[in-house]
Amino acid sequence: MKVLVATEKPFAKVAVEGIKQIIENAGYELALLENYTDINDLYQVVADADALIVRSDKVTPEVIEHATKLKIVVRAGAGYDNLDLPACTARNIVAMNTPGQNSNAVAELALGMMVYMARNQFTPGTGKELLGKNIGIHAYGNVGKLVAKIAKGFGMTVYAYDPFVKKEIMENESVIVCNTVEELYSKCHYVSLHIPANEQTKKSIGYDLLSKMPKGGTLINTARKEVINEEELVKLLEERTDLKYATDMTAGNHAELIEKFGIRVFATPKKMGAETAEANINAGLAAANQIVKFFQTGDTTFQVNKKHEVKN
Ligand code: 3PG
Repeated sequence: MKVLVATEKPFAKVAVEGIKQIIENAGYELALLENYTDINDLYQVVADADALIVRSDKVTPEVIEHATKLKIVVRAGAGYDNLDLPACTARNIVAMNTPGQNSNAVAELALGMMVYMARNQFTPGTGKELLGKNIGIHAYGNVGKLVAKIAKGFGMTVYAYDPFVKKEIMENESVIVCNTVEELYSKCHYVSLHIPANEQTKKSIGYDLLSKMPKGGTLINTARKEVINEEELVKLLEERTDLKYATDMTAGNHAELIEKFGIRVFATPKKMGAETAEANINAGLAAANQIVKFFQTGDTTFQVNKKHEVKN
């Protein structure tokens, strides 16, 4: 049984060692493809893989086509918008993620970016403090919850909007629940985005919503760049010179944003949210364990494609 770890952006060495140990202890073989730049390299090594572990690597219908023996693919991380689920399902390949495993790393980065923007990217001069400001958590999942917890430590007042989470859960965690997304944006100096990228959310954060933010508002995006309507963001930043945007995914129009808005806009050089040794270990080892459990017991706990359509 061959388990392939294919990562354009590799895991920390210590995580790879842990994955190797889990795979080999189960009697399987580990193959490693790191830092690949040519998709043909992936096509070649995936050909005899029974299982595949990826990060944000795109698992397209073409990858699936080359992976003739593949039975399971695990996205070591939360967002699985990089997996072509219909293509997996059509081939009876189980697709999974590892929810929660890298959440703390992303949450810490979100708060770090907030401080960085409040201090004008450490440009000399007077910045602002987070203490006493309102923060809006847009989607109260694993990351959103942790952002709320850390923000409380900064003395921020925490609001949240998530139509998929019971009000009581948020209220029990001392979070003020907003009934509409507009209410969240209009009340909060900082909004931290934690929605997934899917057909409903793509380009959903645009002019109308962002223009509701109070004076000096800052949007922090550690979710996905696809959820932002980038053209509308430019229009708004031109009109509202008080607003700021920080993102962990370089925008498609990054050069334009920097040229026009300077330090009101910030983007990490590469997606940094899950780039900690701890997050790599948590997510990588969880992925390896899920694969072993799947082969040994048929466990499909974290499956994200439709179970009833996949015949194991
Ligand atoms: C996730 O969805 O888990 C994060 O975006 C992390 O992605 P990465 O593993 O590519 O850094």
